[in-house]
Amino acid sequence: VLSHKGTNTIITDRLILRRFELTDANNMFKNWANDSEVTKFLTWETHSDIEVTKGILEEWVDEYMKPNVYHWAIELNEIREVIGGIAVFNLDEQNLSCELGYCMSKAYWGKGIMSETLEGVIDYLFSEIGLNRITAKHDTNNVASGKVMVKSGMKYEGTLKQAYIRNKKEFCDMAIYAILKSEWINKQQIGQ
Ligand SMILES: CC(C)(COP(=O)(O)OP(=O)(O)OC[C@H]1O[C@@H](n2cnc3c(N)ncnc32)[C@H](O)[C@@H]1OP(=O)(O)O)[C@@H](O)C(=O)NCCC(=O)NCCS
Repeated sequence: VLSHKGTNTIITDRLILRRFELTDANNMFKNWANDSEVTKFLTWETHSDIEVTKGILEEWVDEYMKPNVYHWAIELNEIREVIGGIAVFNLDEQNLSCELGYCMSKAYWGKGIMSETLEGVIDYLFSEIGLNRITAKHDTNNVASGKVMVKSGMKYEGTLKQAYIRNKKEFCDMAIYAILKSEWINKQQIGQ
């Protein structure tokens, strides 16, 4: 049985992973939601107007009322701004598994920030919530995302054909990766 604690703050070397707030609208819009390069491989469309961002933030903030919602804003210590987000979805209470989805400002790509985020979140979900299996999927064209998954200890399990519709336009194949709690504990023990 999972022991839900909701979206509590996680501190890593360079980041504060915390709940989204309504006041994040400007930075969220400016840093990633308005950038078509960020949303290229995502299921949602680029925000054309900050009002869209504000509306979505209102929904996200309301959702924190539920104890089983895990959705973090990624705040970079250095600039004290939110630069991305990471969320649990498809939480399967019966089988103790979930999926993760994430995205981040282009200005900070390639610095290991999403790997650092994933490691913090994976650790929280295994050690605090009691999950047993965490998965993530990426469009097979999105090579960078697959590398982040591998770097975080996830293993490739296969490719799902035409598993999602990219930007509401075309079918795309999705590669699926997973990590088990036992693998995570092993990884910690050997200090990788
Ligand atoms: C995918 C994404 C989250 C990667 O975040 P990031 O912080 O740049 O990733 P990291 O710096 O932690 O990189 C992890 C590994 O991936 C590699 N990598 C990162 N970007 C890459 C790119 N564009 N091409 C090839 N490899 C890349 C890095 O080299 C690194 O491996 P290394 O340390 O062994 O060199 C980011 O590019 C992003 O937000 N993209 C848009 C949204 C998105 O696609 N989300 C995922 C949907 S499944």
